Amino acid sequence: MSDGTVPTDLASVQSRLTALQQAIEAELAQAQDAAALELLRVKYLGRRGALQECWQALPQVSPEDRPRLGQQLNTLKTQWTEAVRARFVTVMSQAVVDKLRQPSTLDRTLPGHPPVLGHRHPITQVIDEILGVFERLGFAVVEGPEIETPFHNFDALNIPADHPSRESFDTFFLDSPTANEFLLRSHTSPVQVHYLKDHADHPRPFRIVVPGRVFRPDALDASHCFQFHQIEGLVVEPGVTLADLKGLLTAFAQAVFGPATRLRFRPHFFPFTEPSAEADISCIFCRGHGCRVCGQKGWLEILGAGVVHPHVFAATGWPAATRGLAFGLGIERIAMLKYGIDDIRLFFDSDVRFLQQF
Ligand code: DAH
Repeated sequence: MSDGTVPTDLASVQSRLTALQQAIEAELAQAQDAAALELLRVKYLGRRGALQECWQALPQVSPEDRPRLGQQLNTLKTQWTEAVRARFVTVMSQAVVDKLRQPSTLDRTLPGHPPVLGHRHPITQVIDEILGVFERLGFAVVEGPEIETPFHNFDALNIPADHPSRESFDTFFLDSPTANEFLLRSHTSPVQVHYLKDHADHPRPFRIVVPGRVFRPDALDASHCFQFHQIEGLVVEPGVTLADLKGLLTAFAQAVFGPATRLRFRPHFFPFTEPSAEADISCIFCRGHGCRVCGQKGWLEILGAGVVHPHVFAATGWPAATRGLAFGLGIERIAMLKYGIDDIRLFFDSDVRFLQQF
């Protein structure tokens, strides 16, 4: 609106304002979108806009006219600002209405996207498979708490207070008023203690398997995680021997890894079994010939096992002559072998690209 000249008398300011009023009304009616309205706002109401220019005339007009002109300019500023805002609302609502009026491009006859079905986690699948094998061998499935007492996790399992695995670096202890009252179980073996204690009043033979999560303060790497899963096994039957244990575990190994799988015991130490063994299976990749996975040994370690130590029965109120077999295996390790996975962290990352493959 500026023509570069500042009006100097009231009459010319008034005619300028009248012209501006007509112009802004006309342009407002033309403006069809937010961008046009913003340009318009700057042109008439901006710091260098048309209205601001009229203020420069104020010192020129006679002193008696000044207050009225000042008031008039302020009123116009309010009115124009409101007019721009009102037009903005109109333009935007019209845009929404236009959008809704547009014919829909949706083809309702096209088939929809099928819902993505979830499925069980590979670890859950391996647990279920192994439990199924043991159920067919006469085992019942039992579970126990993840928060334990030192008695269940250690003492009753013949792990004395000065045993290295009781040091805090091997176990997560929970904060409690009296120190070391509760912990996150570091293995599933404490469920042996629960089950034996719960059934000490009527001792009779049983076979149980116990799946569950266990916790250890291990630094995270390709083969270690602070949480993983185990399955514990406990058999109490008169006269059972290490030979029965080997038979059961061979049946398990062949069911999970194939009928050609062989199983061997290596002498080992666990406080809660005597004698104790570690069990290896013939390498499922090279069938025992030696390869990178088995470190050329032909064998893969898969579990710990043994004949239940009499101290465990004594601590849980069972007769001294009770005979039992126990074993414990790590699920992640078995799942990694079974599926050829080389990093345990994949099981906990929840990356669907990984999980969808199972
Ligand atoms: N609790 C042992 C561990 O976490 C595994 C184990 C070994 C369990 C021998 C048993 C057993 O029941 O007899 O390393």
